[in-house]
Amino acid sequence: MKEYQAVIVENKEIANGICSVTFALPVATKVRAGQFGDIAVGGTHLLRRPIAICKVEENLVTFCYQVKGEGTQRLKEMKVGEETSVLMPLGNGFFVEETEKEVALVGGGVGIFPLISVLREYAGKKTINAYMGFRNKGAVCGLEEFEKADKFVGVTDDGSYGEKMNSVQAFAADLEKGYRPDVVLSCGPLPMLKALKKLVEEKNIPCYVSLEERMGCGIGACLVCVCDLSSGAKARVCKDGPVFNVTEVEL
Ligand SMILES: Cc1cc2nc3c(=O)[nH]c(=O)nc-3n(C[C@H](O)[C@H](O)[C@H](O)COP(=O)(O)OP(=O)(O)OC[C@H]3O[C@@H](n4cnc5c(N)ncnc54)[C@H](O)[C@@H]3O)c2cc1C
Ligand code: FES
Repeated sequence: MKEYQAVIVENKEIANGICSVTFALPVATKVRAGQFGDIAVGGTHLLRRPIAICKVEENLVTFCYQVKGEGTQRLKEMKVGEETSVLMPLGNGFFVEETEKEVALVGGGVGIFPLISVLREYAGKKTINAYMGFRNKGAVCGLEEFEKADKFVGVTDDGSYGEKMNSVQAFAADLEKGYRPDVVLSCGPLPMLKALKKLVEEKNIPCYVSLEERMGCGIGACLVCVCDLSSGAKARVCKDGPVFNVTEVEL
């Protein structure tokens, strides 16, 4: 992990309430899919905001974020040419084993963004089915990235784009038809992850989930982000995660 002074080269809305910001770092960088950056948003916001790294091309790093509260609103208002501090790459990220040839990505809401980084790392090397859930048609984004998947199923909560269902239901429908991936990688809202955990445990399919807990320091020091493990132990989402084996974490 390094602290970079990063300069904004693009910051634009890509769907309703969802923006994409690209920073130029002073040097080229390499990250693992599913790692995140902690972005200083300045102003009165002392805490940084953790956002998944969506795309890296040499020294250009792109994050996609939903405007939720003051921190992400401040990020949205940052202009091209503005400089800020970004700590990255943070966390463990997703790792696909050599033996895992068929990969299913199941994402919902802003959880689709770390999964785009998986597609960028593994497309062409693995057979990837992507099941992505959006709130409605206006929130649909990243389609040009999902073209890299061998199969893409996009669904919405209200049926205004794709079928009216969530991404776990879309994935379950393919399992019913005989599809069986070697591993499932997922990120999304907690109810979605809980439903996925139940499904993959019933079907005995390996699965890793990325958690989006609230964070303080982002580097393992403050314990704001601890989660419970099935063993009874605690783990720091920022340092020990954000990616966990679904059977090892309490959701
Ligand atoms: C590892 C990691 C990766 C993330 N990746 C992304 C991403 O790629 N894109 C993206 O849009 N967001 C992502 N998030 C969530 C993002 O960090 C929060 O939405 C953001 O920090 C909210 O800041 P804010 O100041 O705008 O809102 P705040 O004013 O802090 O909060 C506004 C609302 O958002 C809720 N909230 C705050 N933090 C979180 C959180 N971590 N998870 C869920 N709800 C939260 C609060 O409870 C409140 O209701 C990620 C979080 C983590 C931990
Ligand atoms: S955010 Fe401080 S320990 Fe994880």
